[in-house]
Amino acid sequence: MVRLVYSVVLLSVLGFASQVVNGIFMDKLSEKKLCADEECVYTISLVKAEEDFNAPDCRFINIKKGEMIYVYSKLMKKMGSGEYWAGSVYNDQLGTVGYFPSNIVDEQQVFKEANKEMNTTDIDFFCE
Ligand SMILES: *[C@@H]1O[C@H](CO)[C@@H](O)[C@H](O)[C@H]1NC(C)=O
Repeated sequence: MVRLVYSVVLLSVLGFASQVVNGIFMDKLSEKKLCADEECVYTISLVKAEEDFNAPDCRFINIKKGEMIYVYSKLMKKMGSGEYWAGSVYNDQLGTVGYFPSNIVDEQQVFKEANKEMNTTDIDFFCE
């Protein structure tokens, strides 16, 4: 029994470690973000995609026109760049979170106003 517990613990540790090793820290899209709370865990809003979006790299998510997306944070615009929001597609069982341009979506329902200005962290731009 004890040996079984050790194996399970070891497997989860190894699993986590390999995920980190396989991941990559990408350049930050912005230094600041707006969240609904200080942990950025509350869902800000539900939006609907008006256009398809093809993720240019692993920081982004693919979106098809008509899909509904939950928004968790809103990056603050850098000079000369677009505005990106972080979210996950409603029907994505894996709940993959990534960025998409805010100008291709239409906000349907706001759950909690994003009025907390936060610094982004390296983890916000980490992907596998
Ligand atoms: C954001 O980062 C700046 C500079 O590192 C720091 O002065 C500031 O306190 C940070 N703000 C928050 C909300 O953590």
